[in-house]
Amino acid sequence: MNKVYLHLNEVLTLEGAARKDGRKLLPSDLSIIQDGAVVVEGDTIAWVGETANLPTKYQSYEQIVLTGHVLTPELVDSHTHIVFGGDRAQEYADRLNGVSYEEIRKRGGGILLTMNKTNQSSVSDLYESACRRIERLYSYGIGAIEIKSGYGLNLAKEKEISGVINKLKKHFGPRVRIFNTYLAAHDVPADFSSSSDYMDQVVLPLLEELAKDKVVDAVDIFHEKNYFTEDDTRKLFQKAKSLGIARKIHADELNDNHGASIAVEYEAISADHLLKISADGIAKLASSKTVATLLPGTAFFLGKPLAPARALLDEGAKVALASDYNPGSCHCDNILLIASLSAPQMKLNQAELWSGITLNAAHALNLRDQGAIITGMKARFALFKCESLSHITYKWGKNLRVNLP
Ligand code: NIG
Ligand code: FE
Repeated sequence: MNKVYLHLNEVLTLEGAARKDGRKLLPSDLSIIQDGAVVVEGDTIAWVGETANLPTKYQSYEQIVLTGHVLTPELVDSHTHIVFGGDRAQEYADRLNGVSYEEIRKRGGGILLTMNKTNQSSVSDLYESACRRIERLYSYGIGAIEIKSGYGLNLAKEKEISGVINKLKKHFGPRVRIFNTYLAAHDVPADFSSSSDYMDQVVLPLLEELAKDKVVDAVDIFHEKNYFTEDDTRKLFQKAKSLGIARKIHADELNDNHGASIAVEYEAISADHLLKISADGIAKLASSKTVATLLPGTAFFLGKPLAPARALLDEGAKVALASDYNPGSCHCDNILLIASLSAPQMKLNQAELWSGITLNAAHALNLRDQGAIITGMKARFALFKCESLSHITYKWGKNLRVNLP
């Protein structure tokens, strides 16, 4: 059970980043140790430092030499929609041919198309396809994944999907930590006359029911023009707060709807997307604990300008990066590839990039015991076979994770 990993080319500890709560990071906050060693007792980190300084008391532990490898905190994907049926390749082609995401929705496509495909899928198909997707995410170095419901959009199917996520959580834990987010407020099916009817008849009653079983880790809502209104969001957040359930939000993606400031008002754990966030929204997020989660893969996929990452970072917001993996707006599950591609565009330094997919992403899921390699934290690592940390994101889209002995 007790082990020493030693002679690692580099250990990315993020000790400096953790001390600064993931904000206003400089490259030195990576806190990289060369020729590093990490001691693990059970599932906890007992010591971190240079191999040359390993205290003698650990020399009786199993010794694993990892020359030629780099150890990082395990990656976290804090925003995914991986329980879905079917695909939306035709819409992707339509977008290339000039039709916008919003226009596709008006024609009855988008989330509602995946809702139909998901409702036609059996529970075992949904479970098994999600298992395969999780294994692929794991292969990139990810060990904690947020999974949203949101393609059932009726009482029975949303309940079933929440059950699927719960089963995935049990099956994959503790190797992969799964966070179950309730996103029945993803779109409004055509058989409801308004979003508020759908909220009252489906979203809120089912939340109360699921809350009794304690299976929901957070609620989320597509707070967006033509989807859900400010009233809907406030109602959902108020209900979640009264049930002791965390809040997350799809905010200011297609329009600025004050999503970021509502998130801060209700102490949401994250506000996600933020392509159109206002200066006021940036200031509010920066002075709050709410994580600003950026999903650049979605902006790339939809051909939209990226979120104002630099403004958020410079004001002191805690910024995470996530994949938003889903069949419509971002059919890419590889957070490392997305980070490699977007960091130069969004002008992230290397500490911002790595905190964004580890420490800060963990905070977006209320996980305080992982995301840095520090004594006392959980021994949750990703091991990469390469010379240095820079090689990992320098080799765009190349999967370098290897299993830790
Ligand atoms: O995060 N914006 C809402 N939800 C997803 C889109 C899902 C879909 O298009 O199927 C998103 O981009
Ligand atoms: Fe999303």
